[in-house]
Amino acid sequence: MSGTLEISNVSKTYDAGGENPVKALDKVSLTVNQGEFVSIIGPSGCGKSTLFNVIGGLIPDYTGEVTIDGHRIDGTHRDVGVVFQEESTFPWRTTLNNVAFPLEVQGMAREAREAKAREFIKLVGLEGFENHFPAQLSGGMKQRTAVARTLAYEPRIMLMDEPFGALDEQTRLLLGDKLLEIWSTLKQTMLLITHNITEAVQLSDRVVVMSYRPGRIKRVIDIELPRPRSSEVITTAEFGHYVGDIWNELREEASRGMADAEEKLAAR
Ligand SMILES: Nc1ncnc2c1ncn2[C@@H]1O[C@H](COP(=O)(O)OP(=O)(O)OP(=O)(O)O)[C@@H](O)[C@H]1O
Ligand SMILES: [Mg+2]
Repeated sequence: MSGTLEISNVSKTYDAGGENPVKALDKVSLTVNQGEFVSIIGPSGCGKSTLFNVIGGLIPDYTGEVTIDGHRIDGTHRDVGVVFQEESTFPWRTTLNNVAFPLEVQGMAREAREAKAREFIKLVGLEGFENHFPAQLSGGMKQRTAVARTLAYEPRIMLMDEPFGALDEQTRLLLGDKLLEIWSTLKQTMLLITHNITEAVQLSDRVVVMSYRPGRIKRVIDIELPRPRSSEVITTAEFGHYVGDIWNELREEASRGMADAEEKLAAR
């Protein structure tokens, strides 16, 4: 299995019908090696989800180039799996049928897809909840269902857009451990969007800090904490240094984002 993702000079402007076009991404370049875990952090509106939509093949009219193992991405792609920012389980399907859904779309026979879905349900720690509906699950369990569903079709590259964004800190740390455990087994290329600096440092090989509009890569920080890594790492001094370093990069961008929002509010 390979899955090297190369993003070269990617730009995207939303023209919103000619009025006030928004330059969401400006010449973003990044190579993510096969099996690497990279997090993207940046203020709200800096183009993170846009970048994922480009990589996922959902925005065809971008400039620049995205390739997987040297092949240009045109449209949605089996090698790329996305866990979306919004909660995305199907309320009318049980955990089992949520996770089996992409396999059903692929035309896999019922028995085979259910066996596979069970395997991934177990992997995310939801064994025993196969026949529950999302409404009967906690927020964290729903997100684990969404993660399992994307894992189930075994994409080489996983894009996760704030999968644990709505969760409390403790649950988030423990799900981070779970995610690292899964990743060490399956070895996909992982790209994670998060607003949480702790989460980015806990999980990643590298953290990419993006600037406020237009979205550019401001800095890439190597996280040289030993692996295997567990959430206990957050108590170390070294961890604290990384968090401080990233916050220093981010503070200015976040303030610009906030000032912009206030200005817009005042202009109303
Ligand atoms: N479909 C669209 N049409 C027009 N403008 C859009 C569209 N999608 C996003 N934008 C604009 O592009 C910019 C980047 O949006 P994007 O959703 O990529 O940000 P983000 O970094 O994911 O933010 P957040 O952290 O809040 O999720 C924003 O200014 C947004 O208003
Ligand atoms: Mg977003």
